[in-house]
Amino acid sequence: MTATNHIVWHDSIVTKQHRLDQNNHHSPVLWFTGLSGSGKSTLTVALEKALHERGVRSYRLDGDNIRHGLNNNLGFSPEDRKENIRRIGEVAKLLNDAGLITLTAFISPYKEDRDNVRSLLNGQEFIEIYVKCSLDGCEARDPKGLYQKARAGEIKGFTGIDAPYEEPESPELIIDTEQQSVEEGVATILQFLEKQGWITRNSY
Ligand code: ADX
Repeated sequence: MTATNHIVWHDSIVTKQHRLDQNNHHSPVLWFTGLSGSGKSTLTVALEKALHERGVRSYRLDGDNIRHGLNNNLGFSPEDRKENIRRIGEVAKLLNDAGLITLTAFISPYKEDRDNVRSLLNGQEFIEIYVKCSLDGCEARDPKGLYQKARAGEIKGFTGIDAPYEEPESPELIIDTEQQSVEEGVATILQFLEKQGWITRNSY
């Protein structure tokens, strides 16, 4: 039996549009993808602060954090990573309906999994942001010491070492963290959101 048997959708009276009107901004999902150590978390934390200061309601979902709770039963096999991203896609869809801008920071190494989330959001409210940093660059940073452990064989199936990362083919944005500062990256994303009309100057 599938989950869709004998269950019926129950609509709200308050709609997504009501919430967007109240917030005075849209609720796109900003999907940050990139290698471990590329700067996804740093960027999303800084962007979340910048949005908050402008009165824009947003929420950050971060791989390391979510794996402490909602996804604490998942590891790093391809199947588990797929399920990780599927669940986050569903949570992001709820937050999209709730009227919040979602910032997700997950390696999300497989193109197919990212594309599935894009489809889930009808393609229009999914902004793929490739946080670009060479493997050498990420390894040099190694903020959690995990690359060192992966090289020593203490962690198996580590992304970029002995597990794949499929680069986005046509992301909406690329933030090259070896070239741009955090502030420049945040400014680039804010400008993009304004240009798309997702947030307006009236939002802040
Ligand atoms: S994803 O591949 O499923 O999208 P996710 O973003 O949730 O990964 O988690 C990645 C984080 O888990 C990394 O930043 C790192 O701190 C940690 N980690 C632990 N083991 C691995 C591994 N084998 N590969 C990649 N990251 C790992």
